[in-house]
Amino acid sequence: ADTSKTVDERLLSICQLLENKIDCYNWVGFYFKNGDKNELKLGPYVGEPTDHTIIPFGKGICGQVAVSNKNFVVPDVASQDNYIACSITVKAEIVIPIFVNGENMGQIDIDSNTPDPFSVEDERFLEFVCEQVSKII
Ligand code: SME
Repeated sequence: ADTSKTVDERLLSICQLLENKIDCYNWVGFYFKNGDKNELKLGPYVGEPTDHTIIPFGKGICGQVAVSNKNFVVPDVASQDNYIACSITVKAEIVIPIFVNGENMGQIDIDSNTPDPFSVEDERFLEFVCEQVSKII
């Protein structure tokens, strides 16, 4: 195995690959459970810097996934009451949880500037990505 890269470097590479190769993925990042606190902490990401480096469980799309343990696909962010806006250019969002030994440890979060861009294929693909990530974190 290649031990020359840190976990964060590998996670950043995944973000870069996804953002580069998939046109409708415009912000790609990871949030992880912050120790034993009921909050998420921003990990590696690609895209516009965000003020939301800490997100309490339950808040926004990300915080809701932290408690629901379910994928959350948002075709139109304007339709969501419990949403944290990072950029006014964002139209849609997808968040997929990352499980380690059955425990929800974090998530991949993807924003799109295109309305309603995510299909069930994105969900299956990102679930696969999250499964791979669960093995390296
Ligand atoms: N929109 C997210 C916040 C994180 S930013 O998209 C980077 C939410 O509602 O949880």
